[in-house]
Amino acid sequence: MKRRAFIRGGFATLGLTTLAAYGVLQKTGFCYAGAADGFTTPLPVPPLLENLSADSGTASFALRVQRGKRNFFQGLSTSTMGYNGDYLGPTIKVRNGQQVRVKVNNTLDEQTTVHWHGLHVPAEWDGGPRQTIKAGGDWNPAFSIKQPAATLWYHPHAMGLTGEQVYQGLAGLFIIEDEISDSLEIPKTYGVDDFPLVIQDRRFQRDGGFAYARSMMDIMHGVLGNYLLVNGALWPNLAVPQGKVRLRILNGSNSSIYNIAFADGREFYQIATDGGFQEQPVTLNSLFLSAGERAEIIVDFKDNPLQSKTSLLVDQQNGYRFEAMQFTVVHPLTEPSAELPKTLVNIDWIPEKESVNTRYFTMETMSMGGGRMGMMGMRGRGTMGRGRLTINGKNMDINRIDEEVQLDSTEIWEINNRSTMMMNLPHSMHLHDVQFQILDRDGTPPPPHERGRKDTVLIQPGETVRVISRFEDYTGVYMYHCHLLEHEDNGMMGQFKVVSQKT
Ligand code: C2O
Ligand code: CU
Ligand code: CU
Repeated sequence: MKRRAFIRGGFATLGLTTLAAYGVLQKTGFCYAGAADGFTTPLPVPPLLENLSADSGTASFALRVQRGKRNFFQGLSTSTMGYNGDYLGPTIKVRNGQQVRVKVNNTLDEQTTVHWHGLHVPAEWDGGPRQTIKAGGDWNPAFSIKQPAATLWYHPHAMGLTGEQVYQGLAGLFIIEDEISDSLEIPKTYGVDDFPLVIQDRRFQRDGGFAYARSMMDIMHGVLGNYLLVNGALWPNLAVPQGKVRLRILNGSNSSIYNIAFADGREFYQIATDGGFQEQPVTLNSLFLSAGERAEIIVDFKDNPLQSKTSLLVDQQNGYRFEAMQFTVVHPLTEPSAELPKTLVNIDWIPEKESVNTRYFTMETMSMGGGRMGMMGMRGRGTMGRGRLTINGKNMDINRIDEEVQLDSTEIWEINNRSTMMMNLPHSMHLHDVQFQILDRDGTPPPPHERGRKDTVLIQPGETVRVISRFEDYTGVYMYHCHLLEHEDNGMMGQFKVVSQKT
């Protein structure tokens, strides 16, 4: 069955307001043939953003936040948002130690912000909900890079609008390189053997528009889609060399938790967590990433014959399995790729005894009235959920500072996802300003794929996770929140203020 015919047929026969799932491989009884008909679109690789500065010590960029249109489906136009384009944004690449300046121009008819997720920058340039850029306005952040090579990202963060704006396409990668990433014998030519994969699921209306509704269920479980985009394309194909390839994977979805694997079950090697390289490559055959988390992996196609294809499968927490994309091995390497280094970096592990304070956070879905989740009260943007999704019993208030942290101190944050029989929701915790390290999950050291610098951590219902971090260099107000964007937008967020003197 041809893809177009299938979708059109779907309109005729299914009286649904959203496009019927196609290319979703249900765990049972899926129709594989349909999806296999796709995979002809070359994977779009976001362009590297041009550095407008002539001086190597500085980097200067221009980002324009704009509306656009894209045909995700042939003959159907989707209204989108993008940075310097119609969907997603260019990849910003900088070096550790560089001074960075960005000119942001918001051409939208609504406010936005540009948050540098994972970057350690002064609070005033963090781009959180306190740094709004009004419709038509400009914002000119300037900061220096003070952290090692990593795959970070940028996205909007205006109060109550984050989920919707990200959904429409506002997200881009922010890559830091340094001497170590230069010297390691790993693939590092962007767009040739080093590729970003921004993975996002989406729902569409029958007219092609994004179906970003927010029902009660959507807020509680997150807006989970039934189509999978990789770098903004449905069922793309990536032509790869017959050797090692590096994939910088971002779970760019709003609220999905992905388990990512190859259809042939092959092993691959994780080399980086959210905040940079791990000490040693970690051998995996599936990779678990919650919304906002990143990992870099190395896949070796040396044993794949030319023209052979391999699929990437993505499982979502609701049981959907997507055949996300295919890789086609198209050309031999002139020389075989080098063995993966045994050691990548030495991580500066923060000893637990360095902590001067432990803070406790309980993430909770509070029931309102009589212990039941009322099925009423859903009246559009931001009206639901006040008082329902909480951290330490509180819903986000931008006029309230929830925690005060001493500059240059080290702290342990112990985060518990208190779940009930009624509400078994996963949450994550993301901290601005810092990269932390996970000490343990329910008292057990984290699995190898989480050993490294992290800024976002998934916390399953009932689980307690302890993380440790140093609060250095900058004072000011930063956010901590669940990175399931529908939870964040409904108040599962708080503010910590780094102060140089206890007040
Ligand atoms: Cu990626 Cu506060 O967010
Ligand atoms: Cu962030
Ligand atoms: Cu949450």
